[in-house]
Amino acid sequence: MIDIQVQEWASLLLRWAHLIAGIGWIGASFHFIALDLGLKRSKQDVFGVTGESWSVHGGGFYHVRKYGVAPQAMPKDLHWYQWDAYATWLTGFALMFVVYYLGAERYLIDPTVRELSAGWAVALSVLFLAAGWFVYDGLCRSPLARDGRTLAALLFVLMVATAYGLSLVFSGRAAFLHVGAIIATAMSANVFFVIIPNQKKVVAALVAGETPDPALGRAAKLRSTHNNYLTLPVLFMMISNHYPMTFGHRWNWVVVAFVLLIGFVIRHFFNRRAAGVRGAGLAWQWPTTVALTLALAAFTGWTPPDAGATADGPVRTAEAVAIVETHCVSCHAAEPTHPWFVDTPMEVHLDSETAIRARADQILAQAVRTNAMPLGNETGMTDKERAMLGAWIDAGMPD
Ligand code: HEC
Repeated sequence: MIDIQVQEWASLLLRWAHLIAGIGWIGASFHFIALDLGLKRSKQDVFGVTGESWSVHGGGFYHVRKYGVAPQAMPKDLHWYQWDAYATWLTGFALMFVVYYLGAERYLIDPTVRELSAGWAVALSVLFLAAGWFVYDGLCRSPLARDGRTLAALLFVLMVATAYGLSLVFSGRAAFLHVGAIIATAMSANVFFVIIPNQKKVVAALVAGETPDPALGRAAKLRSTHNNYLTLPVLFMMISNHYPMTFGHRWNWVVVAFVLLIGFVIRHFFNRRAAGVRGAGLAWQWPTTVALTLALAAFTGWTPPDAGATADGPVRTAEAVAIVETHCVSCHAAEPTHPWFVDTPMEVHLDSETAIRARADQILAQAVRTNAMPLGNETGMTDKERAMLGAWIDAGMPD
């Protein structure tokens, strides 16, 4: 086991690098999509130019031209956009390794969901990441890909089904993050295995004086459109890690379905707008987004009927404190006795009745409405105990 201090630093630095690479990749992608959709017919007649765009940024004017297929002669210093995508994946996987693989018992496994050894859990994680790509890639190459909408609907169902499957094997937090990681892996693989190689083939054909196969461009365009629409949901899943009402919901796969739809609709608004659509064509996206987001917020406050356990009758303070002592205090004390921690996690102390009363809302959020805590659930906190804590807090914590 690596020293926790080293692990925390590795995690912080990788998160930083991951964010920077992601900003680079997504920023460039947003820029080019908007640029491409907003091109105007070129005024000057330059051979092969199909559109142009003027912009001003940082005190300078920029004049960009797009060639329908390619310029007559290849420029010597052609800039390729690919390393941001690869760096995002590499730092993301490294971060996942440090947090979820080295800390499998803490973050990946929840024995009340499934009792997995660390080795098996990590193997399953890698399997999910790889399988996600192969299934997706296969579908994009199949006849189903002829109709973009059918494919998109099918992919949506598959993503939600994957989220459901993950929720049966991993902790809620890990399941949620894995949906994001599986999609993000496919997005990076799109760049690595399809978009860039196809562009290279097109360039090679042109250099050789041949007409490039239009199927190459079509395939790249399909992948690039998927990447565009999946960006927002992936970002949501990455940052929702600290919001247990998302991943900690018993039906967190329904949350995934909402997030996919919301991200899709927002992205659609910006794509339509960049394409010059105005008026009615832009009227429905924001109301839909607001309605879906409110529905999602309401959903996360609702407990499914199969939640099972309820407290039998009123719960006394002594019982509530005993539950917290059994399941929380090994970590949440001034001097944690749990070997994973030297300092109290997030300075949340739960080692006295007063402290517990002061943190009642947070306890509700982390351990009653959701099962985000206890981390790793080694002590096997049951639904019944969660319900008892909830009943005590909801009753106003009577003595
Ligand atoms: C194995 C150690 C461990 C146990 C046991 C544990 N926690 Fe935690 N707790 C943590 C860690 C680590 C964090 C910081 C989580 C993070 O990085 O998001 C945390 C964070 C929290 C937070 C703050 C969350 C936030 O984002 O503000 C609350 C509240 C909390 N725990 C409550 C509980 C309760 C209630 C229990 C018992 C039912 C419990 N914890 C059991 C390790 C533990």
